[in-house]
Amino acid sequence: MTDPKDPHRKSVLNEIVFPNQTNHYGTLFGGQALAFMDKAAFIAASRYCRRTVVTASSDQVDFHTPVRVGNVVELYSRVIKTGHTSMQVEVTMYAENLLTGEKRLCTQGLFTMVALDEHGKPTSIPPLKEPPPPDPDFQV
Ligand SMILES: CC(C)(COP(=O)(O)OP(=O)(O)OC[C@H]1O[C@@H](n2cnc3c(N)ncnc32)[C@H](O)[C@@H]1OP(=O)(O)O)[C@@H](O)C(=O)NCCC(=O)NCCS
Repeated sequence: MTDPKDPHRKSVLNEIVFPNQTNHYGTLFGGQALAFMDKAAFIAASRYCRRTVVTASSDQVDFHTPVRVGNVVELYSRVIKTGHTSMQVEVTMYAENLLTGEKRLCTQGLFTMVALDEHGKPTSIPPLKEPPPPDPDFQV
């Protein structure tokens, strides 16, 4: 179990891909991939600042390989940079074939999440003091 107080904590999210999440080629619909990634970014940012957070932007998302129906997608997310109220979160998504165990990188992206106070206004967050350590799940 990762240390909940580690500011570089990596969050892990698993989802199974069902037919209603795919296009007519039987591969994961891009909008659904973004929804999974946004959810992963939301978890990492919320854990980092323990505030309500919203997505301000998805800065760049690269789709490397398709995800097939029935695959499990495993998403990794962590905060890599902070501003005054915003956090940059990196997210990678891998697809796993449950029958063979084969796992490959499908999508990676950066999301900017903003912390809000009880009035829905941006609020300050603790600064990330050091850059994140190398991690093979993000070295792509
Ligand atoms: C994101 C939001 C809270 C920013 O509010 P705002 O009044 O423009 O806030 P500010 O101008 O004070 O900016 C606050 C922070 O957000 C960042 N920010 C705002 N818009 C941004 C954008 N489009 N991309 C990246 N960062 C952005 C600012 O750089 C600033 O960061 P910093 O404090 O670390 O320097 C507001 O635009 C909003 O509520 N958007 C809708 C969010 C939403 O519904 N998301 C989808 C569903 S969760």
